[in-house]
Amino acid sequence: MSNPYQPDSAIGRPERQVVLAYMATAGAVLVLMMLLGLIMRLSQGELLGVPPQWFYRILTLHGTGMVGIAGLAGAGIMWYFLRQYVELSLGVAWANLGLFLTGVVLIILGIAVGGYAGAWTFLYPLPAHPMGMWSTWGAASFLFGLLLVGVGFLLLHLDTARAIIGRYGSLGKGLGWPQLFGHNDGNAPPPAVVASTMVLIVNILGLVSGAAIVVMSLVNLYFPAFEVDALLAKNMIYFFGHVFINATIYMAIIAVYHLLPRYTGRPWPSSNKAFLGAWTASTLMVIIVYPHHILMDFAMPEWMNVMGQIISYTSGLPVLVVTAYGAITNVHRSEIRWDLASALLVLSTFGWAAGIIPAMVDATIVVNQVMHNTTWVPGHFHFYLLLGMIAMALGFMSWLVKTYAGNTDTATDRVAFWVYALGGLGFVGMFLMGGRDGEPRRYAQHLAEWVPYDQAASAFAVLVIAATAVFMWRFFAGLRRAATAPVPA
Ligand code: HEM
Repeated sequence: MSNPYQPDSAIGRPERQVVLAYMATAGAVLVLMMLLGLIMRLSQGELLGVPPQWFYRILTLHGTGMVGIAGLAGAGIMWYFLRQYVELSLGVAWANLGLFLTGVVLIILGIAVGGYAGAWTFLYPLPAHPMGMWSTWGAASFLFGLLLVGVGFLLLHLDTARAIIGRYGSLGKGLGWPQLFGHNDGNAPPPAVVASTMVLIVNILGLVSGAAIVVMSLVNLYFPAFEVDALLAKNMIYFFGHVFINATIYMAIIAVYHLLPRYTGRPWPSSNKAFLGAWTASTLMVIIVYPHHILMDFAMPEWMNVMGQIISYTSGLPVLVVTAYGAITNVHRSEIRWDLASALLVLSTFGWAAGIIPAMVDATIVVNQVMHNTTWVPGHFHFYLLLGMIAMALGFMSWLVKTYAGNTDTATDRVAFWVYALGGLGFVGMFLMGGRDGEPRRYAQHLAEWVPYDQAASAFAVLVIAATAVFMWRFFAGLRRAATAPVPA
């Protein structure tokens, strides 16, 4: 049986420490944001009295915080594995974390003190039209915080681009194009390099678009005569938002590619044309699929909406298929060593694949017309984020402390895994069922017929949070040892 806890000699202690700092920050914020999510669900379920203005502030903080830590955790995973093949800059990695934390302080100030409650999507020109609900400086602080976080990620991806080009010669080679389009000599880059190349291409475009519209919104806040075409602004925002949140999964999936084989003792078949073709196809499609977020905008050119629907059916699929198929063949009849980390990684592949299905349903124009502003939407994205992306991050964190701090699983960990998986399924199920019954999205108060969904979801959320607290407690207990463990010879 293979030993999955072999430390990586290509990762020095300072490199390991920055990754641990990313994961620790993400983990701590994750639990806090989950508690905020529970507060919202309890309030919708009439089990807790939250004033509406606070509900929307909490919604804004929860959405922004979760998207931010998903990015941070994904970046931590990508950095850990990519660093084993290319020379990434430690300084840039710390600078990204510094900018992230500074941005977070400004975002919290803008929301908690400045009162900003216009959601993480900061839809132009909403920040400048608070109708007395928030201050101009509050909106500005939020937007500026977002800008700092974005600049940090931009630096990180520029650094991965520099390092990949330095080692492989070009981004096309990072994606394995010589092997994909020519003779496959079996020397395609490893999955971490292929995925990181895809992510840097899409995320640099997305972040530049996001930063541009954030700056324009900031100017508009103080100089209202400076106006932007609202539809263009919406396109820029949703292009950025879609790409950024998708990229979190494409970074986190690297943990599945590189860790699952250590548990099964079988290599991940990444040098084949199907794997390389899938990543190249998704690179293009992730960029052009975003109109499925704005299918309800009648002013959008029709061809863009049609493209949004068609590409939604194909966008995630190539990578999803090679990953799900790869995971199944990797695990099937293998002597996989089950522990909390491998179980979470397998769960994450299921969570991602299954969560995509309600997303594709919503991307169908005729369905979207009635479902888009219902809780069907948080239903599908909580599915592949909570049970997909976050499960990948939790699995990686569990593996880190086992490998570098000697943590071992206990019965509590095994129970916590099932509580997380079943509680998570119940939680997203309530969003989806409520959405099917017309429960509106982003409403502080619900009609009586929707309240049972909210109450049941609150109970499931308590289970998810309890399980996550166990995972975090185990991670933080091993953190110091993991940070100081010697580098293997
Ligand atoms: C125990 C875990 C969680 C709970 C209880 C929770 C709860 C909620 C609730 C109640 C909403 C508002 C839904 C609505 O009425 O529109 C929401 C929105 C949201 N959640 Fe979560 N959530 C959890 C985990 C997560 C995770 C893991 C992520 C991402 C990694 C996430 C990202 C978001 C985002 C992006 C929104 C949308 C905010 C908006 O509409 O502006 N949540 N969540």
